[in-house]
Amino acid sequence: MFRNVLVTGGAGYIGAHVCKALKAHGMVPIVFDSLITGSIESVRYGPFEKGDIRDKSALEKVFATYQIDAVIHMAASIEVGKSVQDPLPFYDNNIAGTISLLYALDKAGCNTVIFSSSAAVYGNPNAVPIKEDASLAPINPYGYTKFFVEKVLSQLSKERGIRSCALRYFNACGADPDGEIGPRNPNPSHVIPRFLKKVLSGEEITVYGDSYQTKDGSCVRDYVHVSDIAEAHVLALKKLGGSEGAHVYNLGSETGVSVLELLHSIEEVTGKKCHYTIGNLREGDPACLVASSEKAQRELGWKAQHSSIRKILETAWHWEKNCL
Ligand SMILES: NC(=O)c1ccc[n+]([C@@H]2O[C@H](COP(=O)([O-])OP(=O)(O)OC[C@H]3O[C@@H](n4cnc5c(N)ncnc54)[C@H](O)[C@@H]3O)[C@@H](O)[C@H]2O)c1
Repeated sequence: MFRNVLVTGGAGYIGAHVCKALKAHGMVPIVFDSLITGSIESVRYGPFEKGDIRDKSALEKVFATYQIDAVIHMAASIEVGKSVQDPLPFYDNNIAGTISLLYALDKAGCNTVIFSSSAAVYGNPNAVPIKEDASLAPINPYGYTKFFVEKVLSQLSKERGIRSCALRYFNACGADPDGEIGPRNPNPSHVIPRFLKKVLSGEEITVYGDSYQTKDGSCVRDYVHVSDIAEAHVLALKKLGGSEGAHVYNLGSETGVSVLELLHSIEEVTGKKCHYTIGNLREGDPACLVASSEKAQRELGWKAQHSSIRKILETAWHWEKNCL
């Protein structure tokens, strides 16, 4: 089994939860993060090295300092809307940054990578639930960066013997049930922390569109608890300890929740009224994204444990109200 695991982006929201899970399973998460969106308060479970993944020599130094057995690569620019407005910084950070990391990893003789991919690789899916063999047709630069890195990893498994798992997260949300870590971005782009902040401040929420072909006209998404996502990384490492190749897995709860249903659940969990208006549809927002996670269940033994919308909202609300 692996011991020292380099976690790029480990000071970020999902990265912190992954580090907690690694430590709980006896591994040492070594966080490499520029802190561009991450936070030092989230680095609690192992050593920290500040740096940018596009800086090859900084990465080489980390590989030389620690005996790195495997890499979990989560560092990325993540805001889809920004990627549409200004794509080049996304290609630079998410693609050039990943190539720089792969150089350093290959040079150090490390051959195991878990990559944070995304449901964004599917674009507008033809059918739901979405399986891993659905066609990949990203509709924004962010999704394209994930698609591209997956292809590179697939090539490198043949060309350089690099073993990888690309984990395609659906909507990561919630917070650590122990209240140690959670989302820290003061201006979150993700819907749940954004809505909860509005509920706390009494501001009005905008729902982007109510004329989609869905059960109530609002967008339907698959919300998966961040601690469940974190656990999948441990299982993916175990898988790569015993098998070669480039693997891909969806990580979702397999349940579609509409934005209006989400607002209703927020009212139930917080005991507060959600004041909202219906705004315009956002360009490039698929109507419905729901995962089939059957492959991750079958091959990794992964099952979402905390991903009921109630548990997600309870942990997220507790974090937002008491811990931040
Ligand atoms: N949040 C989601 O719902 C979701 C869904 C699918 C995929 N993902 C992917 O999961 C990963 C983590 O996302 P998150 O939600 O935790 O975002 P986040 O912004 O909280 O975390 C990203 C981390 O990467 C760091 N980082 C960014 N660029 C860097 C660079 N050049 N060098 C070093 N560090 C850098 C940031 O400082 C931050 O700590 C990302 O790759 C993202 O694309 C997230």
